[in-house]
Amino acid sequence: MAARLFPRDIIRIKRDGGRLDRDAIETWIRGVVDGSFADYQSAAMLMAIFQRGMTDEETALLTEAMMRSGEVIEIPEVRLPKVDKHSTGGVGDKVSLVLAPLAAAAGLAVPMISGRGLGHTGGTLDKLESIPGFRVALSGEEYRRQLATVGISLAGQTASFVPADRKLYALRDVTATVECIPLICASIMSKKLAEGIDALVLDVKFGRGAFMKRIEDARMLARAMVSIGKAMRRPTVALLTSMDRPLGRAVGHSLEVIESVECLKGRGPADLMEVTMELTARMVVLGGLERDVPSARARLQRALESGAALDKFREVVAAQDGDPGVVDDYGRLPTARRTVEIVSPESGYIHDVDAMAIAQVVTLLGGSRSRVEDGVDHAVGVSDLAQAGEPIAAGALLCRLQVNDESRLQAALDLAQGAFSIGAGRPELSPLVSEEIA
Ligand code: URA
Repeated sequence: MAARLFPRDIIRIKRDGGRLDRDAIETWIRGVVDGSFADYQSAAMLMAIFQRGMTDEETALLTEAMMRSGEVIEIPEVRLPKVDKHSTGGVGDKVSLVLAPLAAAAGLAVPMISGRGLGHTGGTLDKLESIPGFRVALSGEEYRRQLATVGISLAGQTASFVPADRKLYALRDVTATVECIPLICASIMSKKLAEGIDALVLDVKFGRGAFMKRIEDARMLARAMVSIGKAMRRPTVALLTSMDRPLGRAVGHSLEVIESVECLKGRGPADLMEVTMELTARMVVLGGLERDVPSARARLQRALESGAALDKFREVVAAQDGDPGVVDDYGRLPTARRTVEIVSPESGYIHDVDAMAIAQVVTLLGGSRSRVEDGVDHAVGVSDLAQAGEPIAAGALLCRLQVNDESRLQAALDLAQGAFSIGAGRPELSPLVSEEIA
């Protein structure tokens, strides 16, 4: 019989650069949940992993142990292919709100358990909660039933869902161990693999407004996640997409709901539609509904043009107790008290829009949180953003700030003004979707 492993033995193996086996990793994760590993011991473990790294095999074992730390959802009664998308997060990234009804209208089931926005990136749950009445706290039974009847469940995490990640993420946040590829990979994939999917598409963002600033790091993370998905027999594909500039023309919760509905009405901005269509098409192919991306895109185009995707959005909003009337009357969403316009000081072309600066403007206006327990103002944000590559005349609109609390308005105005680079001549823009990792 193997000797019992104590926390300090497991920490010592990693501290000294050794490899953790299944027994060591499972003992740690069990200890995280049942308390036999104290927080200070897990914190030491996280720092050792941060410093020493993990092999692919260790990362896979950690993912599996975390996934099994709570309820692993299975939904055999839903016969449609169950495919989800996960994004590593960006500024103006409201893709999920368009993609989920679009994928469902095209014939997939979309089980989606999302998070809240933290720091500069927005969260799907916060955006959905700007719809009056919308309820993200679904019970397991509601989650399964809705997937069977509507084809989409848009839920938040419950206490029994991957509890090891909840604990470890909070510890990583306060011990400067978030930016570690094996830990990010295990955190994301343990949650996705526990939500009842058959296949997964990942949007791994890189650039100023993303978690990963460098494409090389995004590629490494994407490869690690794709290989774990496949090892767990869930076909997984990742796209590396640029997050230097905000996606679309709106950043802020209800503003992003409006832009998402506009996309479903066929009037979405080109950059947002491009990323959405590329990701959703991969879901359709992985789900086996079409053989290749061009035919999947054609199928999605039909779902948009027929109005089926918009109807699906109404249906899921109503199913989760939200007001589906917001689709036809945006005035039913929270609206800011005051709008402040920012105009261009000169004529030329928009060469760049800094996603991070725009995210900070939204934070100054009260639209994002710095701690999980903080609230957010759903009404505020930045709308009508001019986009890189567009011509602009002196005095023409660069963006509108939607304002409730004016206490930090001047700082927000200064930041917003500085977010735009204007120059002579139309700029060359790098592609939004730069690589596929399968
Ligand atoms: N999102 C997650 O869920 N976990 C991480 O570690 C990073 C981003």
